[in-house]
This record gives sequence, C-alpha cells and structure tokens, in this order.
Amino acid sequence: MNLQSINRCDQRAREILQKNDRGNYTVPTDGLYPFQWNWDSALVALGFCAFDPDRAWREIETLLSAQWDNGMVPHIIFWKDDEGYFPGPAEWGTGTSPKTSGITQPPLAATIVRELLDRSKEDFHSRAVPIVEALNRWHQWFSDARDPDGRGLVAIIHPWESGRDNLPDWDAPLCHVDTSGVGTYSRRDTQHVHEDERPKKLDYDRYMALVQFGRENGWDPEIIARDNPFWVADAGMNAILRRAEHDLVDLAQTLGLSRIATQARARAQRLDAGFEALWSEQLGGYVSLDLRHNEKARTLTAGTFLAFYASNTPDRHARRMLDTFHLWSKKVRYGVPSFDPTSELFDSIRYWRGPVWAIINWMIANGLERNGHAELAVRIHKDTQSLICNEGFYEYFCPLTGRGMGGDAFSWTAAAWLAWASPNAGHSGRSAADRNQVPGA
Ligand code: GLC
Repeated sequence: MNLQSINRCDQRAREILQKNDRGNYTVPTDGLYPFQWNWDSALVALGFCAFDPDRAWREIETLLSAQWDNGMVPHIIFWKDDEGYFPGPAEWGTGTSPKTSGITQPPLAATIVRELLDRSKEDFHSRAVPIVEALNRWHQWFSDARDPDGRGLVAIIHPWESGRDNLPDWDAPLCHVDTSGVGTYSRRDTQHVHEDERPKKLDYDRYMALVQFGRENGWDPEIIARDNPFWVADAGMNAILRRAEHDLVDLAQTLGLSRIATQARARAQRLDAGFEALWSEQLGGYVSLDLRHNEKARTLTAGTFLAFYASNTPDRHARRMLDTFHLWSKKVRYGVPSFDPTSELFDSIRYWRGPVWAIINWMIANGLERNGHAELAVRIHKDTQSLICNEGFYEYFCPLTGRGMGGDAFSWTAAAWLAWASPNAGHSGRSAADRNQVPGA
C-alpha cells in the first residue's frame, strides 16, 4: 500500500463519517439503516476521535440519552421518521420518547469510552462522569434483567441483540418460535441489498414473532425472562460485556467513582466465571448456549475468538482456539470469517454466515494482542487493510474473494479504518511497548 492510497482511504473514511453524520448521531449507512444503531455508534465514536474528539463524545452522549428508565440502552433509536425502514417504531411499540426498539445490542460503549479517554489529548474527565454512571446502569440492567439467576451469563432475547443477526447458532433456538401469528409484512432490507446476501424469509418470520412477543408483553423484563421463546447466552455478547465490565472498573477508578468500580468488579468476576460454561470441549471453542433448552451450538463462529478480547483465557483453551484460527486461515483468503469455513453451513456471501466484518476483526485483533499473539493481530490488521483498500468501505466482505458486499459507504467500516486499520490510525488499546512491535500502528 503506498502513501497516496493510504491518504486517499483516510480522506474517504472521514468523508463517509461526515456524510452519515446527522448532527448528534451517525447513521450506519444512508438508505438501508437510517437511524442510530447502538454498537455501530460506539465504534463510530472511535472513528471520529481521529479527527474530531468533541464529536466522538457527542455520539456516545446521544446514544445514552435514549437510555430507558430501567437502564437498557436500545439497539435502534428512531430519532426521525423514515417510512423506508421495517420494523419501525409501530412494530416495536415501546412507547418511549425518543422512539426506540425494544431490545439492546452488544455493550461496546464502555470499552470505547476508555479508548476515547486514552486517545484524547484534551481533558474529557468531567464529561466522562455522567457517561460512566449511565454505562453502569446499563451493565446493571444486563445483570438484573438478563441474568436473573446470577449464573454469570447474560441472555439475548432476539438474534438482533447479538449484532450478528443470522448466525447459524440461532437456527436451533429459533425452531421453538411459533410464527403462526406473524401475518404478512413487507421487508425493506431486500429493496436495498440482494436477497442472497440477507436473512431468509423463515428467519425473518421468526424475528418478527419475537418482536410481537415483546410488544404484546410491554417489554416487561420479568415476563421476558420467564417466557420469551428465545433465551440464549451468546458467546459474543457475553465476551463483549465481560470486557466492558473490566473497562468500566478502570474508567471508574480513573474518575474516582469507587462505588461504580466496586459494582463493576463484582459483575466482571461473575461473568468471568460464568463464561466457562460456554466452552465446548468437542469443538475447542466458546459457543452459544440455549439457556431455555440447555443446548449448546454445534458449530463455531468468530465469536469464539472474542474470548481473547474479553479478558484472560485459560491456556489450554487459548491453544485450541489458536489451532482453530490457523485452520480457518487456510480455508479463506481474508480473515476473519464470521462463521466456520470448514462447516457445511458456511456461506461466504450471506451476512453473518461467512463474510468478514471490520468491527469483529478490530475486536479479535485487539484481544489477540492483549493476550500476546501480536503476529496474528498483525495478520488480521493487514487483511482488513487490503479488503478496505481494494474494495472500499463496505458493510462486509467475502472471505474467499474479498468482494465488498451489503451497504456501501458504511460508517463502522470507515471508523474501523480511522481508529485501527489505517497505518495512520491511533493505537487500539495496547501499551506503548506493544505498539512499537505492530506495523501499521
Ligand atoms: C445489521 C447488523 C447489526 C448492525 C446493523 C446496523 O443489522 O447485523 O450488527 O448493528 O446492521 O449496521
């Protein structure tokens, strides 16, 4: 990659964020996703941090301003009406102001806020305090509403909460969702993107049945915990929350918020211990677990590597996951595929059933570095650079050919570039000593 193409990519990435900026929040991409999405916004904030730190903090503040009274931070915030999107506020029926969906998404925000604080030259400490308080309420909500038995594993109530919407992991738990009452509806996603790349009709019916269940029960956490037909511990969600809790401990300590530090530490310890229940000896990785039916997923996803991102991993488990990583690398040209490329269910162009996503690559590389596997992190870093430089800022990429797919001019791909993949990017949470070892930092 020469200097000219790097600078061109840097500039294009900034333009994408600016074009998708709606003032106080950023849409993932024009058209397909016209509102604020939770974990997209977190990464977007890190992207903005590279050239407009104030705007970065505002992205997080806007996201948290939609926090529910019970602490949940919703997965979509419908700041403006848009007829072109389905399911919209009427289908979710949450009755909140601003209008939001009724579910959450992976809590990347605490980790990002910690990065923002590290990376910003200005002093944002006083601005960080109310943010950290809101994050603590969100994390506590996860513990209360999604782990009512205190086993150290939080459940998701809809595949969309995982952020990895159509993973094969959801196929078995979704079989228990009755779709007889769903009726007819008109999807909008397939008007923007070819249907071969999107979830299938049966999956979509089940997604809608779960939205209906939540709406009809007023999104009541107790009813949902007891009766929601989908109640699954996702390895990705749990790994991201674990990491977020550890980062919240650090943030709270830095800001002198000792009560929050104590609460977050207790939750982090519980999650660290609970996570081991997701280990599959047979597959040699962490998998999702259907908590209602006590069944583990039978295949591995890229979520297993998020165990490195979460925190420390027992050595024996780390070794087996690294073997898997090497095996997968032989099967694809670009890593990291979102799903096991040795499985017959692997589909290189269908969304979360194979394609590479920059956000996941950033997290996996960050985790591998923290666990002493810098050379693998560099490989992921290079692959991400090539994908973006060759194809552009697509939503996701084919791991076999590198073709960019889904939405174009995508905010979180631009943010991942600015925050990490670009050779001009800031560091990704590693120490100065580590940083010197990693080309492109
Ligand atoms: C899709 C992705 C989800 C993302 C959203 C907006 O639904 O699966 O993770 O947040 O698009 O980009």
